[in-house]
Amino acid sequence: MPVPGRFTIHARDGKARRATLHTAHGEIQTPVFMPVGTQGSVKAVGPDDLLQAGSQIILGNTYHLYLRPGDELVARRGGLHRFMSWDKPILTDSGGFQVFSLSTIRKISEKGVEFRSYLDGSKHFFSPEKAISIQQNLGSDIMMVLDECVGYGADREYTARSLERTTRWARRCREVHTPGADGQLMFGIIQGGFHEDLREESLGQLLEIPFEGYAIGGLSVGESTEDMYRILNHIGPRMPEEKPRYLMGVGTPMDILEGIESGVDMFDCVLPTRNARNGTLFTSQGKVNIKRAEFREDDGPLDPNCQCYTCRNFSRAYLRHLYTAREILSYRLNSLHNIAFFLELARQAREAIEGGRFAELKAHYQGIYGTDGR
Ligand code: GUN
Ligand code: ZN
Repeated sequence: MPVPGRFTIHARDGKARRATLHTAHGEIQTPVFMPVGTQGSVKAVGPDDLLQAGSQIILGNTYHLYLRPGDELVARRGGLHRFMSWDKPILTDSGGFQVFSLSTIRKISEKGVEFRSYLDGSKHFFSPEKAISIQQNLGSDIMMVLDECVGYGADREYTARSLERTTRWARRCREVHTPGADGQLMFGIIQGGFHEDLREESLGQLLEIPFEGYAIGGLSVGESTEDMYRILNHIGPRMPEEKPRYLMGVGTPMDILEGIESGVDMFDCVLPTRNARNGTLFTSQGKVNIKRAEFREDDGPLDPNCQCYTCRNFSRAYLRHLYTAREILSYRLNSLHNIAFFLELARQAREAIEGGRFAELKAHYQGIYGTDGR
């Protein structure tokens, strides 16, 4: 078996890449979309559903799993893969982002970040070393360094100081984990807000450490699509050629295509699963709001071009009924479809890159979803 971390590029189309990333739990074909399983579960769907839909890797969250049920409890059960019965790759986010987005009271210092649990208000502390030891207990295939995701309003001065601290934290993360040990990979996270030069500075500092892959953090934090794409288009192509590139927490189908066009390989977002639960479904014809009265007696499939379990077996009328009746099955069927849609989008991107038709694919989706899909 090839060593975890090996990254082989098979084809290029402009800046877009088609590659394979090897991990301790098998290989990942990129570009890839990673469904989000925050609490050790992709909401409303099981591992069997995920496999059937073609998921290659899922995401878990250090912040949530540390608070509940506790990373040591998970370790005693053989790690997160065994605990949740998912045998394919898992990437865990470091907790940096969740501490800042979910915990109200937090104190950030050189040592780390103090925060209160979103569950019971109890006090906790994440140091960079702690964030890694939790991810080692979880046994994820890809660990993320502890970082500070600065808010959209942060000024240049704060952003510059923060990214330097994020670099020092990243170095401390690297120091407590030998590259390749236990087959776990570690990715660095580029910050720097909406300043191109600060983004380059952050990347330059992280390259000296170095990591098995690099992520773009600090996007989709309230900025305009224009600002997001400006930073994405600037930093994506400057990231190391020979290593995987990951855009964190982004985004709409168009954001993902924009990312791929800038040379990004990996994406995660709660959009397909969260939207599924409020009845917003992504289809090859655009977004569908399943609660609308026009679907009351619509016997057609949700998306005639989709091969997912939901589209193969149920009508729009039935999906609307389940949603309106607040039936639990509604969450499962809708989530299954939206996940399948995002996975299919990534699959089409891989195929298009191989065929030198990526620009065509993007233009096709632009015609359906508009320039940003919002
Ligand atoms: N998820 C989305 N954005 C971020 C970020 O900036 N940092 C981390 N750790 N996770 C994220
Ligand atoms: Zn479907």
